Amino acid sequence: MFDKRKILLIGSDHGGFEMKKFIKENLIKDGYKIKDFGTNSTASVDYPDFIHPLAKSINDNKNELGIILCGSGNGAQMTANKYKNVRAALCWTEEQAELSRKHNNANIISLPGRFIDFKLALKMVKIFLTTDFEGGRHIQRVNKISQIR
Ligand code: RB5
Repeated sequence: MFDKRKILLIGSDHGGFEMKKFIKENLIKDGYKIKDFGTNSTASVDYPDFIHPLAKSINDNKNELGIILCGSGNGAQMTANKYKNVRAALCWTEEQAELSRKHNNANIISLPGRFIDFKLALKMVKIFLTTDFEGGRHIQRVNKISQIR
C-alpha cells in the first residue's frame, strides 16, 4: 500500500498527456500528492525527455512509486527500465497491474495512453498503489533482474 504522505511521480509524452491529466486529477481527489514531470500539452515531444528525470528519481530514492505513459506505453517503459533500480511494468489489464506489484515489486506502472479506456487505466493505477510485494520466492527472482550476465 503506497503511503499517501509520500510523493507519487507521474510523467508522459503527448500520447499519454490526456490520460495523465485524468489520472492525476482523480488521484489528487483521493488525497495523493503528485509530482508531475510533464509533458503539459498534446504538442509532440520525445518521451525520453520526460521519462528519464522521473526514472532517475525513482532509481535514486528507492521508496518512491511512479506512473508513466506514452501512446503505446512501450517507449516510456523501455526508457525507465534503463535504470538499475527501476522495475517498470507495462500494464493492459487489472491482473497485470496486481501481479506487477505482488510478483515483480514493480515501482513504475507504464500505461498505453492511446489504447485503453481511461477508467481502466485509473483502476489499474489504484490496484498498483494498493497492492504490496509478496516477497518470499519472488525476492531472489527480482534481485536477479539487474544482475546482467
Ligand atoms: C508518439 O507518437 C509515440 O511514438 C509514443 O507516444 C509512444 O507510443 C512510444 O512508444
